[in-house]
Amino acid sequence: MGETRRESLPRYQLFIDVKWVDAESGKTFTATNPATGESIAEVAEADSADVAKAVAAARKAFEGKWSEVSPSERGRLLFKLAQLIEEHSGELAALETANAGKPIRESTFADLPLTVGTMEYFAGFASKIEGETIPLFNGMFTYTMREPVGVCGQIIPWNFPLAMAAWKIAPALAAGNTVVLKPAEQTPVTAMELAKLVQEVGFPDGVVNILPGFGDTAGAALARHPGVDKISLTGSAATGAKVASVAAGGMKAVTMELGGKSPMIVFEDADLDNAVSGAQMANFYSSGQICSNGTRVFVHESVADAFIEKLIARSRDLVLGDPEKPETQVGPIVTKAQYEQVMSYIEKGKAEGAKCVLGGHAVSEGMPEGGLFVAPTVFTDCTDDMTIVREEIFGPVMSVLTFSDEDEAIKRANDTEYGLAAGVFTKDLSRGHRVVARLEAGTCWINTYNITPIEMPFGGVKKSGVGRENGRAAIEYYTRIK
Ligand code: NAI
Ligand code: MG
Repeated sequence: MGETRRESLPRYQLFIDVKWVDAESGKTFTATNPATGESIAEVAEADSADVAKAVAAARKAFEGKWSEVSPSERGRLLFKLAQLIEEHSGELAALETANAGKPIRESTFADLPLTVGTMEYFAGFASKIEGETIPLFNGMFTYTMREPVGVCGQIIPWNFPLAMAAWKIAPALAAGNTVVLKPAEQTPVTAMELAKLVQEVGFPDGVVNILPGFGDTAGAALARHPGVDKISLTGSAATGAKVASVAAGGMKAVTMELGGKSPMIVFEDADLDNAVSGAQMANFYSSGQICSNGTRVFVHESVADAFIEKLIARSRDLVLGDPEKPETQVGPIVTKAQYEQVMSYIEKGKAEGAKCVLGGHAVSEGMPEGGLFVAPTVFTDCTDDMTIVREEIFGPVMSVLTFSDEDEAIKRANDTEYGLAAGVFTKDLSRGHRVVARLEAGTCWINTYNITPIEMPFGGVKKSGVGRENGRAAIEYYTRIK
């Protein structure tokens, strides 16, 4: 029975040198749908031998064919890729939902438009990467050129599989680099569909290589390969530290987009309904599986009761369930391991004395069988030293804390090893900007949260990483100055 099922599954090979090939080892692994636990594809499993082949292909392209393609032609190829993704966006959104368990409304209205928009944005950039002329003395001058870095090893997580692939591939190609991308082992499927479109566009051989595989094998091989000039990783702080130190050994350029425990500060003058929307976006969207989430919600003590009341009233009816249904707002947790991590944090929150005022449990009734669902959860009466307030949970779990003045809020907001993002809710414009200036975070929002337009540089400070993605900044990190 099992075997028959396996044989009828879609199969994906590795994408090396713009061709489809089996892994050298012949190994494959199975991709599953988080909402049902069902197998959705059989995928070739890359390891160091395959990484070596892909890097060699990427290097050959970088030094050969790709270097002869003009910037505007690079832009045209990326535009064509954007168009193809847009043409296939219905199927890709459905597949992303099966791949990552994302509610179909998210895949359709957020992930796919973001993926297309990213390709378009950087397509436009390809022909606008310029150096400078710097005047010296006696009529002399010096000039700079912005060159591509070379072969880029790109490692991405499972929470936004297609959009993260686009965030990595688009600026790298726009700037004239070649890439070897490793999708997350939990969610390889949409990246391989993207590879089909890359092939259809007609990129020269070797420019894009996509190798599904695991972190310890394919990922680690990419990080240490001497033919890779830059490593860009989005993932956990622990993996980031490991990969960055390996990359440092080879003097590779790095961009690290890691986790967070970001603060969201709600002042007494904030529009509370808007602040509740922000807190929901910052904690429950994508089942809370977002690096920039504002999981420490600091609310001024004078409005805390009103905020919590509105928050519960509006979060109680969030529609949890089958991500394929259009009404679903919160889907499953991506894997059993991730689900167990989230549940263990919820238990820790309760054991350490936080008050669970919403959710705080798994849900199976009315859910697709085999899926891993956690109810949107709110803890109040939290203190700064609690485990749920200090550690990244990566699930739909919010901690509410109270404060009494601005200085105190800023000090406590900054009291974390992370620094990815932060949010400030206030009607006082001066205060909004004043507080943002003092927050230790790479990305700050005022009166909104988790909006990541492609025009906006994105990235962290402290243990949340180094470098920036998106915006003009991404081009800077995918080029070097001569
Ligand atoms: P992870 O950081 O281990 O995995 C992310 C990517 O890195 C995957 O493609 C993985 O295969 C690769 N990787 C893992 N170990 C590697 C190694 N030694 N060398 C090279 N590549 C390696 O994240 P994981 O295990 O999926 O999730 C654990 C926690 O990480 C989550 O609970 C969450 O807290 C955090 N996380 C943060 C993300 C973010 O967006 N910043 C995304 C995913 C997870
Ligand atoms: Mg890991």
